[in-house]
Amino acid sequence: MGLVVVLVLGLSCLLLLSLWKQSSGKGKLPPGPTPLPILGNILQLDIKDISKSLSNLSKVYGPVYTVYLGLKPAVVLHGYETMKEALIVGGEEFSGRGHFPMAERVNKGHGIIFSNGKIWKETRRFSLMTLRNLGMGKRSIEERVQEEAHCLVEELRRTNASPCDPSFLLSCALCNVICSIIFHNRFDYTDPNFLTLLEKFNENFRILNSPWIQACNNFPALIDYLPGSHNKVFKNFAYIKSYILEKVKEHQASLDVNDPRDFIDCFLIKMEQEKHNHQMAFTLENLIATAVDLFRAGIDTTSITLRYGLLLLLKHTDVTAKVQKEIDSVIERHRSPCMQDRIHMPYTDAVVHEIQRYIDLIPISLPHTVTRDIKFRNYFIPKGTTVLTSLTSLLHDVQEFPNPEVFDPGHFLDESGNFKKSDYFMPFSAGKRICVGEGLARMELFLFLTSILQKFTLEPVVDLKDIDTTPIPRGLSHVPPSYQLRFIPI
Ligand code: HEM
Ligand SMILES: *[C@@H]1O[C@H](CO)[C@@H](O)[C@H](O)[C@H]1NC(C)=O
Repeated sequence: MGLVVVLVLGLSCLLLLSLWKQSSGKGKLPPGPTPLPILGNILQLDIKDISKSLSNLSKVYGPVYTVYLGLKPAVVLHGYETMKEALIVGGEEFSGRGHFPMAERVNKGHGIIFSNGKIWKETRRFSLMTLRNLGMGKRSIEERVQEEAHCLVEELRRTNASPCDPSFLLSCALCNVICSIIFHNRFDYTDPNFLTLLEKFNENFRILNSPWIQACNNFPALIDYLPGSHNKVFKNFAYIKSYILEKVKEHQASLDVNDPRDFIDCFLIKMEQEKHNHQMAFTLENLIATAVDLFRAGIDTTSITLRYGLLLLLKHTDVTAKVQKEIDSVIERHRSPCMQDRIHMPYTDAVVHEIQRYIDLIPISLPHTVTRDIKFRNYFIPKGTTVLTSLTSLLHDVQEFPNPEVFDPGHFLDESGNFKKSDYFMPFSAGKRICVGEGLARMELFLFLTSILQKFTLEPVVDLKDIDTTPIPRGLSHVPPSYQLRFIPI
């Protein structure tokens, strides 16, 4: 019965849509493969490797085309010129966030990642400022990252050079940096509250990147009517939110408006200032949603990048040797690496860029929508249409980065070994929705990698030629093959 209703509704929607498309005087969506009723182009896409499928389609349909994910059309943008024209020149119009029915049920329009309109703008601006250290009190973000890098090195030392998979320790470290920013303190890696929090985030990451949830996002009816792992996701988020709420209450009790300790303090102060302005953005509910967003956006992204980076360094021993030489001459043995060092370390800077370019962490970024009816390259894109941006098409552009499938720091170096910038380097996306954590993430990557290589030699547990570094697509992300290594103290 339910299925019949869905079918009939679906078919009539499609009919209406095609009628509307023909009759609309405003113009047409970009061309694309012919969709099937209800399923759209799903069968023409490899659900396990959407970004590759979209790259393949762009070879047929060009840099701007339409695919149907289920009933809804999505416009795909491919290549530098198109991306620049939309995200940077177009800006505002392309700054809507695409639909994530799962997330909409958790965030309810709050936070940064999945919000839109005024709440998004206000929360985003506030978070960017706070993460840039404006008003974060005495301890800089850099100091917080350095402290954690130091603790991570001590934990790695405790592995006693025996084979280990670094995933767990890296996610502890990255989770702790966010804890330090939001709660002002880090935790011991054995603290039970900390481990529970981390486990909830990890479990949600696993579930949210499964094919089942991808299906839920394209066919939202599934979420409300069927049992499934997505219910676990909601439970985990409920736990995380109540944990953060508890922390917020502690902060309210000990708040000193003249001496904010962390993100929560800054937010509470802002709430007080905006109290008479009827600001929707500065509420307790939004504080919690925003904190959740910073955790979920800030842990896996950077910890996967670091885990992948260590794998690449393990394989490319010549590259690692050069980085260590640079560390020896610029930082030396005992001082903690700091961001000032980076300008004197062009090779290491190139290596960090090349890691991010090669692994192409979030190949089609997060979906956007257009915020009003627009004309783009003579096509008509109605308000609310999903827009998918291929970051792969820039990071693996053959002209800009010859042999894009090869890991080669030379992609970011000129003939005399100076660091060479590239406009195609957009692992954090671009424009109005560009990653809020870009500065923090780049700081973490540089400080963690140099701190590790300053103190350890990386040693493989298998033959170098057997180390595979090909990215594995997993949901919206690329992950490295799992591996082990030894950290040999220098
Ligand atoms: C290597 C690490 C990271 C990568 C590659 C990365 C990449 C991205 C990408 C591609 C987006 C989507 C942008 C778009 O919609 O166009 C994004 C959004 C976002 N990222 Fe990151 N990110 C990283 C680390 C972080 C960290 C450490 C934080 C937190 C402190 C963070 C916070 C956010 C937030 C809040 C958004 C949503 C922005 C918005 O919708 O306005 N990210 N990131
Ligand atoms: C993309 O195209 C290549 C070459 O035509 C093909 O081997 C590959 O399977 C396609 N990949 C996807 C995910 O569609």
